[in-house]
Amino acid sequence: MFDLEEAINQRHSTRLFLRDKSVPRPLVEEALKLAVRAPSNSNIQPWHVVFASGPARDRLVEALLREAESKPPRVPPLPESFAHLRFELGALVYGSMGIARHDAEARRIARLRNWEFFRAPLAGIVCVHRDLDYVDSLGVGMFLQTLILALTARGVDTCVQVSIAGYPDIIREQLTIPEEMRILCGVAIGYSEPDFPANALRVPRNPLEQNITFEES
Ligand SMILES: Cc1cc2nc3c(=O)[nH]c(=O)nc-3n(C[C@H](O)[C@H](O)[C@H](O)COP(=O)(O)O)c2cc1C
Repeated sequence: MFDLEEAINQRHSTRLFLRDKSVPRPLVEEALKLAVRAPSNSNIQPWHVVFASGPARDRLVEALLREAESKPPRVPPLPESFAHLRFELGALVYGSMGIARHDAEARRIARLRNWEFFRAPLAGIVCVHRDLDYVDSLGVGMFLQTLILALTARGVDTCVQVSIAGYPDIIREQLTIPEEMRILCGVAIGYSEPDFPANALRVPRNPLEQNITFEES
């Protein structure tokens, strides 16, 4: 088991999992018990997660892939001032997969793995109540980060995925998502495929002073 600092440093997005190595349920429940210790506005505990594994996960993946083959996902585009960051990340991620910049077909195939939860055996659909405001998505985010750190500490790998939220109707057809819940994102959970080079990618961060200021006088 890692300590907190190790877990924070070890956590990264995994983009190919071992399909047949499932995550023991008691271990997921242990991590969830820690995740619900996250703070939230008025202790409303705004997180709602539906997990799919086994045939339920496979049916969901099949339906998502069928849809993704024919229709683009409904994911809100980044505003122009942030859009370059998506391209920079794309260059890093696809580059680490050995995909050339102009190889549109290879990129398409790699992108489609999103809707396969990157082959992870456990798929989470992360939701928030429709009546809550954006500040309560923060509460869900705190829960989710705690969950993925607790999983990392137990040797389990993850990837948070907004791409999954791009096909809400398909998810609702396949899983029981209460009507009042809005789907925020997916989370792929499993064990990293050690031979997939992109899993070794460590995405750099801005220097602190780019995003943080201190005012003292
Ligand atoms: C809200 C959110 C949505 C994300 N959506 C996706 C996604 O759809 N597909 C993907 O491959 N990665 C996705 N990611 C992973 C980010 O690309 C990743 O966290 C970021 O590039 C930093 O890399 P790291 O997680 O490896 O440190 C998402 C992360 C977050 C927090």
